[in-house]
Amino acid sequence: NSMSVHKKHLILMGMMGTGKSTIGQHLIQYLQYPAIDLDQWIEEKEQQTIPSIFEEFGESYFRELESKALKHFLEQSQSHILITGGGVILRRENREWMQKENGVVFHLTADVETLIQRLEQDRNRPLIQGDKAEKIRRIWSERKSLYESVADYSIQTDACSPEAITAEILSHW
Ligand code: S3P
Repeated sequence: NSMSVHKKHLILMGMMGTGKSTIGQHLIQYLQYPAIDLDQWIEEKEQQTIPSIFEEFGESYFRELESKALKHFLEQSQSHILITGGGVILRRENREWMQKENGVVFHLTADVETLIQRLEQDRNRPLIQGDKAEKIRRIWSERKSLYESVADYSIQTDACSPEAITAEILSHW
């Protein structure tokens, strides 16, 4: 019934540079749910930037914070728009939580060459500093099937405006 209330979280998932944060900002104009960017939330809670958390404590410490943050919001009964970090699918527990009935997972994708272009100037993502193109290609090949295993819907973002992507998400919601 179209009047029924969604008791679900709308989860935006995908590689760095697929536009999750941008689309999250568009979605809040249509859905009256709080939008939570998990990376931002972690930075505020820890009073530390992500590059600095990686540098001081390492990636696995960050993954621990990320899992806790994800679970914290998925457990809430109020619906949220959850903007996840690209590495959220690395842990099995995260993949299992995202696949539960109380969430719908939208996987934003883009050709790897598009990602390389979009992330060219990036200095804030510790995993892709240095030989950026090679790192992005490797990360994508390692994660592709994990994203696909969790996605309820996959949305190719290369040739679409944020408005069109937002409309596509809303058409499935
Ligand atoms: C990461 C993606 C980043 C951030 C961290 C690690 C990843 O989030 O969580 O740098 O492993 O893909 P975005 O996807 O928002 O860039």
